[in-house]
Amino acid sequence: QAEDGYRMWLRYQPTADTQLRSQYQQQFTNIVQPGDSPTLQLAARELATGLRGITGQEIATPDTPTTGSVVFGTPESSAVIKSLELNDQLNALGDEGFVIARREYRGKPITAIAANSDVGVLYGSFHLLRLLQTQTPVDQLATQSAPAVEHRVVNHWDNLNRVVERGYAGLSLWDWGTLPAYKDNPRYKDYARINASLGINGTVINNVNADARILTDQFLEKAAALADVFRPYGIKLYLSVKFNSPMLLDGFETADPLDPKVQKWWQERVKKVYEYIPDFGGFLVKANSEGQPGPQDFNRNHADGANMLAEALEPFGGVVFWRAFVYAPEQGDRFREAYDEFMPLDGKFKDNVIVQIKNGPIDFQPREPFSPLFGSLEKTNIALELQVTQEYFGFSYHLAYQGPLFTEALNADTYAKGEGTTIGKILAGDVFDYKHTGMAAVINPGNSRNWTSHPFVQSSWYAFGRLAWDVNLTSSAIGEEWLRQTFSNDSDFIQPMQEIMAISREAGVNYRMPLGLTHLYAQGHHYGPAPWHDKSGRPDWTAYYYHQATEDGIGFDRTQSGSNAIEQYHDELTNKFTDPDTTPEDILLWFHHLGWNYQMNSGRSLWQELVHKYDTGVAQVEQMQKTWESVKDYVDAERYQRVKALLQVQLRDAKHWRDACISYFQSVNGLPLPKGSPEPA
Ligand code: GCU
Repeated sequence: QAEDGYRMWLRYQPTADTQLRSQYQQQFTNIVQPGDSPTLQLAARELATGLRGITGQEIATPDTPTTGSVVFGTPESSAVIKSLELNDQLNALGDEGFVIARREYRGKPITAIAANSDVGVLYGSFHLLRLLQTQTPVDQLATQSAPAVEHRVVNHWDNLNRVVERGYAGLSLWDWGTLPAYKDNPRYKDYARINASLGINGTVINNVNADARILTDQFLEKAAALADVFRPYGIKLYLSVKFNSPMLLDGFETADPLDPKVQKWWQERVKKVYEYIPDFGGFLVKANSEGQPGPQDFNRNHADGANMLAEALEPFGGVVFWRAFVYAPEQGDRFREAYDEFMPLDGKFKDNVIVQIKNGPIDFQPREPFSPLFGSLEKTNIALELQVTQEYFGFSYHLAYQGPLFTEALNADTYAKGEGTTIGKILAGDVFDYKHTGMAAVINPGNSRNWTSHPFVQSSWYAFGRLAWDVNLTSSAIGEEWLRQTFSNDSDFIQPMQEIMAISREAGVNYRMPLGLTHLYAQGHHYGPAPWHDKSGRPDWTAYYYHQATEDGIGFDRTQSGSNAIEQYHDELTNKFTDPDTTPEDILLWFHHLGWNYQMNSGRSLWQELVHKYDTGVAQVEQMQKTWESVKDYVDAERYQRVKALLQVQLRDAKHWRDACISYFQSVNGLPLPKGSPEPA
């Protein structure tokens, strides 16, 4: 069957294992729909479509359960669910959790999906379909689950002219020109389904480099139409706003957050927003960062700015995601800045403010140590911001499953309350007394037919959603789930492909910036290499600032003898990072400036190891090519060819990265290539 990738992981193919398929055919013959709230209708439709596809048989819709019924609902909406007495389980699962139970009902085997809310039922329905799509045996279907993180939000960097910043998958999904009149665009609904299938419950639809016009009636009316589509899927709509909107929209002379007139302006605008969108989620704000306006322009701090907006949103239950991505060229070490600005404000933010922090201290680099704000902001609600779109991973041309990066961030140990205080636990609310937590990911869907352009960017979107639901999942388990649903359950496909899922991110680190090098990108586009020492322009936007390569050595000294950024971590880590010998080698040059002859664990010198890593990265891409070619028979022609072609591009770029970086560093250190190194391309 032709496959253009539009359906993502919701393909609902007939179960290939014939024995299992006949079991599914017996156990899933019909669905019994409870009430008809919009959300329950969606669950019914999804189950009917999914079960029909998976079993290959028609799915009946009787009024009462029979053999092979799927019964779903809340104890309130379904008398059958109520009679199953699942309350003990449900009590522990909150608003969004669900139970999948296998029961006998009046002597007939049924499957029940129960939850405390309609959206929980929808999540349970998607989960059952996930279990069936991944060929789970019938006796292993019973389960229960609730989300770890409260706000599971996708961020779009979509401009109002439909150009997507760092998107690489076509124009924005939001066709402002035809909204609000045409809100039945099937893309909107399918977008919401895709997110709901992962339990994502919020979307910020416009760019953090915000256009003030998003708060005008003209755009609010359009945004409200989208919110109407997303609502039954349990997805709240949020907007990125520009901090000086009162100046831009209404000619105010100031946007000082302590000015009562400014406060009133925001209160009135927020009221207006809620007239359009009664369940509006809140604002996302990028302030005093990369030229965006913010409270510091008026000699106020981040808390003053965030609290003003929070106050306006509070009566309606909205929240403010206030970003911690801040830096300025005057700062000595960009690494330090977010911590230095935000730590003094810990405890000063209102309850409905959530500080949204990128995983690393700089900017979504292929590998970063975690931002020291995690584990340090004890009295401020926090959210983790990840990037699905591949701004620094070869756009939508390179294959780079981000599951390993995301789990690396979640499993990072902050030592905030002793060993084992991982970021995942902090976000799950198990460590500090937070009122709210969140996980956000910058995703890239556009009007590319398959949403993300490179088919494997879908896997990172998938991984984000699954991890926001359950921070303890492993990247390989998620990768396997995704492969099974998106391509094939055949073990001859899964096994080799698991290797691709495991190495693709590391390959990207190796051929671009191994051993803790960072930000060697050409300015602006962030695609290709430019490690050279460009002395014009902003220093913190040139590669030299990051690698500091000289004749003597390479790396950024962030120990006591340098910027001392390591002091921002808890003692265990500060101590560890003080000494190059105890600093993990994969982040070594983040913290140390070392001689080219520094001895690595492998016995190689730093220079030899660097070259070795670059070569390894290129070899890994070649390996991915071979593996992909070996699974040809399991993949439809369209996706096979596309990925194959893109891997060729990736190999070209990997060699380019390797050769550009190595030859530049050679021009600095004058060292020959280690013996046995491959010739430059
Ligand atoms: C990066 C990216 C920008 C983006 C910024 C942000 O710097 O290159 O395009 O606006 O991050 O996260 O705000």
